[in-house]
Amino acid sequence: MLYDKVKIIPGLVVFIGLVTFPIWFNVISGKATPAPVPEKSLIAKECVEPTQFMRTSHMQLLNTWRDDIVRTGGTRKGTTANGTEYVRSLQKGCMKCHASKVKFCDTCHNYAAVKPYCWDCHIQPKEII
Ligand code: HEC
Ligand code: HEC
Ligand code: HEC
Repeated sequence: MLYDKVKIIPGLVVFIGLVTFPIWFNVISGKATPAPVPEKSLIAKECVEPTQFMRTSHMQLLNTWRDDIVRTGGTRKGTTANGTEYVRSLQKGCMKCHASKVKFCDTCHNYAAVKPYCWDCHIQPKEII
């Protein structure tokens, strides 16, 4: 009796550990994976809108620009809060300051598992490594 318990309990512990391994491994590694840090803009100090707004709402802003320009013939000229002029354009605006799609846009998008289809038509900048 006693002999069996001594053998069975450690056996059970190992067995449960192995069976549940994928669960607790994900919990541990999930906590240990930090959010990615997108590359800093190399040529500018501020974005077209405050950084916090850009983090949460750049998709809506892009849609607004597109609708404005393509549908209602709106202006392509924009100015930041501090007076820096920029072009309201995906290629000639965003990608001018954020020169690398891979090191900027993709670091977040891969993490968030989103794949914007914009690059089917819009030309992404040549990646300079
Ligand atoms: C005039 C240059 C410029 C343009 C044009 C520009 N950005 Fe930015 N953007 C910046 C800078 C500089 C920062 C970093 C600001 C900071 O660190 O506070 C930034 C920050 C961001 C962030 C937040 C990044 C982070 O670290 O969390 C996002 C997202 C972003 N931009 C997306 C865009 C998109 C999309 C466009 C086009 C609609 C765009 N930007 C156009 C210069 C620009
Ligand atoms: C700070 C992280 C971050 C950066 C940097 C970033 N994005 Fe995003 N982007 C996101 C997240 C998160 C989503 C998904 C948001 C959602 O589903 O609500 C997203 C969604 C989008 C979408 C909508 C896609 C869809 O299928 O709904 C577009 C378009 C987009 N991003 C363009 C860009 C472009 C262009 C750049 C580079 C200039 C960029 N983003 C940089 C985090 C980022
Ligand atoms: C089917 C092809 C196609 C796809 C996909 C597409 N676009 Fe466009 N987009 C165009 C064309 C064509 C124009 C008009 C170009 C011009 O007038 O300079 C345009 C213009 C724009 C403009 C204004 C002008 C400029 O130079 O940027 C923005 C902003 C824009 N698109 C954003 C987006 C975003 C963001 C996505 C992805 C969510 C996207 N587009 C997907 C074809 C496309």
